[in-house]
Amino acid sequence: MAIAGLATDIADTDAYESAVEHLRQARVVLPTFAQLADPATIPQSIAGETETVQVGAPNAANLFRVHWYNDDAGVGRSGVPGYVELPAALTGVKARIAVAFGNRFPMIAAHKVLPAYACLAPRIVTGRFDPARHKAVWPSTGNYCRGGVAISRILGCRGVAVLPEGMSEERFQWLREWVTEPDDIVRTPGSESNVKEIYDKCAELAADPTNVILNQFSEFGNYLVHYQCTGRALEAVFEDMRAGAPTLELAAFVAGTGSAGTLGAGDYLKEALGARIVAVEPTECPTMLYNGYGEHNIQGIGDKHIPFIQNVMNMDMVVGVSDDACDRLNVLFNSDEGRSYLEGRRRIDPAIIARLDNFGLSSIANVLAAIKTARRLDLGPNDVIVTVATDGAGMYVSESDKTVAAHFPGGFDAVAAGETFAQHLLGTDGDHVLELTHADRERIFNLGYYTWVEQQGVALEDFDARRDQRFWKGLRDLMPEWDGMIDDFNRRTGVNLPG
Ligand SMILES: Cc1ncc(COP(=O)(O)O)c(C=O)c1O
Repeated sequence: MAIAGLATDIADTDAYESAVEHLRQARVVLPTFAQLADPATIPQSIAGETETVQVGAPNAANLFRVHWYNDDAGVGRSGVPGYVELPAALTGVKARIAVAFGNRFPMIAAHKVLPAYACLAPRIVTGRFDPARHKAVWPSTGNYCRGGVAISRILGCRGVAVLPEGMSEERFQWLREWVTEPDDIVRTPGSESNVKEIYDKCAELAADPTNVILNQFSEFGNYLVHYQCTGRALEAVFEDMRAGAPTLELAAFVAGTGSAGTLGAGDYLKEALGARIVAVEPTECPTMLYNGYGEHNIQGIGDKHIPFIQNVMNMDMVVGVSDDACDRLNVLFNSDEGRSYLEGRRRIDPAIIARLDNFGLSSIANVLAAIKTARRLDLGPNDVIVTVATDGAGMYVSESDKTVAAHFPGGFDAVAAGETFAQHLLGTDGDHVLELTHADRERIFNLGYYTWVEQQGVALEDFDARRDQRFWKGLRDLMPEWDGMIDDFNRRTGVNLPG
């Protein structure tokens, strides 16, 4: 298997010409990655058109909303990405923890539509994906495939979601409404950490040459778009905080690893602002911490392997968080009893409480990992930790019901709220926190060998190349090159206004 998704040459001019014609008919303009990193550069005519379109609609204008700067109302743009800074009364630490909202991304209310676009767009403009003929196959634990299906629908091609059958009902419900054929939802055995089963299914689907597999775990478009767009968005969040307090420093960037795409933002933030990079995983599936495995419910992270696009040798810490804590805090943050406890007993600002529904399960995991990081490093009021809420609580209503049924037989009352807060927020401990030595990084890096070289057939040379930071720095020229190709492609379709 060659390294996928790094090409900048046109592989097949017929496919390219067909894609131009197809997207001309579909009235699609492809945004450049520079525009998605800095949406202020989107032409006013397109931005104005986008504002007339519903944020949830499968409309080509929504490609220009695939960025971090959508406003609260789901209409226009905000100057700074939406985020919340969590008070010490909630986190129990003095460090300032800021969480950027991923649920403002269009169509799927999760940031995974960004990597989906970044994996497909380069294929289109290099003649490697013909929307008139190919099906885009999106292996995922739920959000990436929703993003992929949304993008596919806009482009007028088939999008196939491959995901474990155990993922949240909200994900399947969404998919049923968006796929063009029921067969385009492919359920694989298991749940969150059963990625091997997803790969096996993709290998089977790849036998059909009209299926193009867009494997987020090994596509560098995923890494690069987070490096460029998420990295710069989080820098803007930090700068917004620093505008009011010039002595602030960015101590750390924290992110759960599913495909490890989001973690790519850490490479940017380390270079630009010296942030430490902290990777998060479930303690029930502690692959990076202990070479471990297991089932868990932090949907989206902890996939029992080391993704090919994870820049392991640049990581600084690994933090394990329990899925039980995330499940229970999900109930605390999203129930009336939990909210009145936070306001009445803990005196937390109702405006902050109102924003906690922007956190899905992996977002809560990121917050808990940020608290653990602050504790381990003794961070103080001058230190900022930034992280992301990939999706919001809306994707986990059914999970909240399950948690109440399983753990709070008397219902979730004030006592349960107090217990949950005390145990899982105030009582957040420093367990399962690893400050990485070179040997630790080597161990985690080497774990990837079994997936990528032995199982997926990557050449050893390509696998090993990623130890060296020059490999990662070398990738960064790809985005401007693809942007040039996107501009050419748009000129060829001649579409000026999407829709
Ligand atoms: C809800 C959720 N959180 C976190 C992640 C992990 O993000 P990444 O794949 O960029 O590591 C995902 C990935 O699908 C996700 O869906």
